[in-house]
Amino acid sequence: MLKDRLDAVGMVRTARERVVARVREAEVVAAALSAGRNVVLEGPPGTGKTTLLRALADGTGVPLVLVEGNAELTPTRLVGHHDASRVLSEDYRPENFVPGPLTRAMTEGALLYVEEFNRVPEETMNVLLGVLSEREMHVPRYGRVPARPTFRLVAAMNPFDAVGTARISPALYDRSCRVAMGYQDEDAERAVVAAATGGPGGLVAHAVRAVRITRDCAELRIGASVRGAIDTVLIAAELAVVRGRDGVDGLVDEDVGEDAALAALTGKVTLGDGVSRAVEQVVVDIWRRAGEELGKG
Ligand SMILES: Nc1ncnc2c1ncn2[C@@H]1O[C@H](COP(=O)(O)OP(=O)(O)OP(=O)(O)O)[C@@H](O)[C@H]1O
Ligand SMILES: [Mg+2]
Repeated sequence: MLKDRLDAVGMVRTARERVVARVREAEVVAAALSAGRNVVLEGPPGTGKTTLLRALADGTGVPLVLVEGNAELTPTRLVGHHDASRVLSEDYRPENFVPGPLTRAMTEGALLYVEEFNRVPEETMNVLLGVLSEREMHVPRYGRVPARPTFRLVAAMNPFDAVGTARISPALYDRSCRVAMGYQDEDAERAVVAAATGGPGGLVAHAVRAVRITRDCAELRIGASVRGAIDTVLIAAELAVVRGRDGVDGLVDEDVGEDAALAALTGKVTLGDGVSRAVEQVVVDIWRRAGEELGKG
């Protein structure tokens, strides 16, 4: 059964079950969507934007249609196209139309979630902005596509990503509401990593402290998200087994933790301009510092 309205209370209930903390954000996004508004979620990578949206969509029983925003997302890819070989044999017919994510989302009354919205080409953005204003679009040789009442656009943007942000801001922000998703506090990040890995508490705490240090480190321009901590814990647990140190608990053996952190974090952080030290050295120092801080604390 297709829904005619979005149920804010149901959305928040499911978000509370599946998302660590973020209650205020869940409530505000649910209220905005339920009020018929579109939403811009602004936050660095790994801050739970997709996780929250998925829970909200499930909580009210509408589909979530996910699209990665990038330079290749042309209007045709977003809207859909006519199957070329069937057009040759049968000419243009509505049945030969292969709907793209926008057409599907409008028809199913879905939440259309566009990640990295600022990377979407201008002409594609204009198609989306037109749909937000009109709640319908006209597809040549297919016809009019009306949006079901529950169709919404949710656009995610990364504040570190300067690409095209200025270009889209006024038109999109004027047609939507903005909710910021910053990094969560240390307790919440520990809960996220523990839930994602089932890893031992000491190791989880160490990995979370390490990624938090990367975000304030003067030598790094961009630090690691909670994904870095999740990867560190998962790798360390396996590495301990491989090296015959099964039964890791608390702070794992120095070499196991360091090697896991190197693999998990060096590719996720970005050195600042003019930093001459190798990224490996910076990460090892951060890993040790995290251990010392927790040992003292
Ligand atoms: N508050 C949270 N509750 C539960 N899990 C979370 C939370 N925040 C992050 N996670 C976990 O962290 C990982 C990254 O989260 P998610 O993919 O939702 O982030 P994102 O903001 O969509 O990132 P990106 O901007 O890179 O798309 C996932 O494994 C997710 O399960
Ligand atoms: Mg995401």
